[in-house]
Amino acid sequence: MALRKIIKMPNSFLRKKASAVDKIDNDIKHILDDMLETMYNANGIGLAATQIGIDKRLIVMDCGLKADDDHLEPNPIKMINPEITFLSKNFKEREEGCLSIPGHHAIVKRPDKVVVNYRDENFNQKKLEADDLLGICVQHEIDHLNGILFIDHLSRIKKEMILKKIKKENLNQNRS
Ligand code: NI
Repeated sequence: MALRKIIKMPNSFLRKKASAVDKIDNDIKHILDDMLETMYNANGIGLAATQIGIDKRLIVMDCGLKADDDHLEPNPIKMINPEITFLSKNFKEREEGCLSIPGHHAIVKRPDKVVVNYRDENFNQKKLEADDLLGICVQHEIDHLNGILFIDHLSRIKKEMILKKIKKENLNQNRS
């Protein structure tokens, strides 16, 4: 396994709609393992292949799983070609961040329940029903595969504010 470089805003690759995976081979399994390692290393709870510059519909997540004693246990999930089949009409607001937009957070409003169909590593058809943190996370990651970022869900003013700050940060970085 190896760490991959996470691409950041304003890299235009983040706006690309990713291509479906038609065959699972060792290459795909390898990418998924690297994605998980890269995500854990960056202290993230989700990562899409788009964020490491790969044009494939792959996401990984780990929002933990509540164990009996209320402790969180690791719960890595790998999804190939995830597709949302249900979104609840109830919305919930929650703070989001993104490994491709480091240092910026904002409250995002999303459906509070979601059902996702996907293929696992063995190309078996699977279904995930999620709410709470995992429900938000899976919507955020599938957004990435469609070239959508969490800032796109904000008001124009809030989005412009974050974009302006990113621009300024990048200018400062280039100067130093
Ligand atoms: Ni993200």
